[in-house]
Amino acid sequence: MGLDDPYRDPSLSIEQRVDDLLARMTLAEKVGQMLQLDARRDLKAAVSEKLAGSILHASPQRMLEAIDLAAGTRLGIPLITAEDCIHGHGFWSGATVFPSQLAMAATWDAALIERVARTTAIEVSATGIHWTFSPVLCIARDLRWGRLDETFGEDPFLIGELGAAMIRGYQGDGLTDPTAVLATAKHFAGYSETQGGRDASEADLSPRKLRAWFLPPFERAAKDGCRVFMLGYQSIDGVPITANKWLLNDVLKDEWGFTGTLVTDWDNVGRMVWEQKVCANDVEAAAVAVKAGNDLVMTTPSFFEGAQGAVEQGLLAEEEVDAAVRRILRLKFELGLFENPRAPDAERQAAVIGHADHAALNLEVARRSLVLLKNDGTLPLAGTGAKTVAIIGPNADAPQSQLGDWAGASGQIDWMPDGQPRELIETVLDGFRAVVPPTWTVTSAQGANIEVLVPDPLGEFYPDGQPRPPISRPAVAEPALIAEAVQTVQAADYAVVVVGDTVALTGESKSTATLELQGGQLALLEALADSGTPTVIVLLNSKPAVLPPSVLNSAAIIQAFNPGMRGGRALAELVLGHIEPTGRMPVSAARHVGQQPIYYNQIRGQHGNRYADLSQDPLFVFGEGLSYTTVEYSDLRIAEPGVSADGVIRASIMLTNTGSRPALETVQAYISDLVTSITWATKELKAYRQVTVEPGTQVTVELEVRAADCSLVTAAGRRVVEPGEFDLLVGPNSRQTNLLAARFRIG
Ligand code: NOJ
Repeated sequence: MGLDDPYRDPSLSIEQRVDDLLARMTLAEKVGQMLQLDARRDLKAAVSEKLAGSILHASPQRMLEAIDLAAGTRLGIPLITAEDCIHGHGFWSGATVFPSQLAMAATWDAALIERVARTTAIEVSATGIHWTFSPVLCIARDLRWGRLDETFGEDPFLIGELGAAMIRGYQGDGLTDPTAVLATAKHFAGYSETQGGRDASEADLSPRKLRAWFLPPFERAAKDGCRVFMLGYQSIDGVPITANKWLLNDVLKDEWGFTGTLVTDWDNVGRMVWEQKVCANDVEAAAVAVKAGNDLVMTTPSFFEGAQGAVEQGLLAEEEVDAAVRRILRLKFELGLFENPRAPDAERQAAVIGHADHAALNLEVARRSLVLLKNDGTLPLAGTGAKTVAIIGPNADAPQSQLGDWAGASGQIDWMPDGQPRELIETVLDGFRAVVPPTWTVTSAQGANIEVLVPDPLGEFYPDGQPRPPISRPAVAEPALIAEAVQTVQAADYAVVVVGDTVALTGESKSTATLELQGGQLALLEALADSGTPTVIVLLNSKPAVLPPSVLNSAAIIQAFNPGMRGGRALAELVLGHIEPTGRMPVSAARHVGQQPIYYNQIRGQHGNRYADLSQDPLFVFGEGLSYTTVEYSDLRIAEPGVSADGVIRASIMLTNTGSRPALETVQAYISDLVTSITWATKELKAYRQVTVEPGTQVTVELEVRAADCSLVTAAGRRVVEPGEFDLLVGPNSRQTNLLAARFRIG
């Protein structure tokens, strides 16, 4: 490496520098650049021998070692480093861990989520990480899927809005901004369309269905400048996503003009050999992956030999490798890594990680994310003088469940076996102790266990090298624990029972067959149902559960999902009425697991509208959530009942707060196309606005929907607006009976 080599000269253009560097590289160095390897393994072998261009899962110590190793390679090409910082920098001890992406989605607040991502980027960029594998733009379809918590819920429009906000937050003012981190739109595309909820199964999707619902959030991300796309694991109609030229090239690059970088998911290239068995060996798999348009190959070390072999055997042209390497190098030059490898910066870390302002934002998001689903008037808890509130349940004081997946001890990394520092996590019990009035007493009892973890007899690791999680077996109900809980509740004025799931029941390869509350929880709830003490149920879980009568008949239900480090405090504040409930469901909840899939925007046409033994009605619908007041919707008006195809539908609706507390309403506007050339969704969310309505006041809310957005995807796969009549449906949630309708025509 000569210090005067043109590629080292920042006064030259990025294209000149890439050209110069590429011309100096051997085939091995080029293929090495395409590798993204696991820094927990043999780091020296990865960087110095396989010449990896990128690493992931580097512990703080290993990060420094890796940077030095890269600097010592022949051309000194800096590494690009990546991590799953998907709701904060979960794998950095003491960083701010926000609510899960699903919980954040319940805020429906893009500006707030943009601030979360910006804050995350500020913390992440101080630790030597250049790139986060976030946001997830998969659509939640089957609640059994283990990764539901990583999504923004079930609606493509909401996902698009919130995803775009997150990307803006991560990438900041552009990649030259030292606090920017690269965002990743993942998992491209259709990964969530599982069979039976099983993770990474074949996705039964036609190109039309992809274009109709799965691709729009990704198209938006590409057009908004998201610099990296990550593949999923699934195959579609026989084609592994890693080999899907149509999606990766024709759609993403040619149609949408994406010029960023593509990374596979974990060992996708190897998977085509050992799992999907569509390639005979590593050489063939490497050729297929590069030809399909992949740039970085995550954790398939044998790609190093495979891709070189493919070039030597004429299965792959070196120019095809060059095209991928160019995209990787361009990214490194844009980030300025050759001038400054953006190494961990202890001073910045001390200044920003876990900063009080970040903790304050974390509390704000947690407050906004809580969804009140039922309230018989018990909430907010009131009472002057001495009162006792009993905080019960296995998730009442469960720090790891509160953070959820991809944080600390959730299983993906090995340098934080004890998880995030306990003192940074305010559990529900901590929250109540901190915020009850001084005259109140807080008591507690666990009441039940959720699970017993047993090692998987198949071993500690999957064939792809990822850790194989222990198996979660339901814990038995323990009479002594239940009796203690019943006694504690009977001696209290109010009970708050926190039930849900655990990280062992959440995540990659951890789909659930049922949606029931596991272990001793049902028996506990049943025993508490007759206590006579008004009981609030808090659902602290990764995804909506099926709820037994003991929960449905309780005084109140709050859906908290995984509310992050400060979630317990936010919950206590909500129950005590220090804040208003504002969250809205980003996903429908089912009455029974057999109702899957239950998303609201179903296609029209079936016999009847119920099962013989059960209604098809969701338990709680998309968009649902209560306030501590009542708000009436009236007087929906459309300004012009006829608009042109390039026009805008302008409407207004009146909101009246008929109660005594303020409300933050999420006014939702759906469109129903009355007659369509193909079968289409009954209705689709097209706009929403969040407005505060003070008690006793009326607010007129203006809404706009572009006629161009009242589109569908034709049988030939083209997105078009079909002229004709539409209903604009406006209301507080997606339940048909809660929506006011006004007709308009697109001419
Ligand atoms: C596999 C997961 O599917 C993906 O979401 C994640 O970013 C990578 N592993 C890296 O941890």
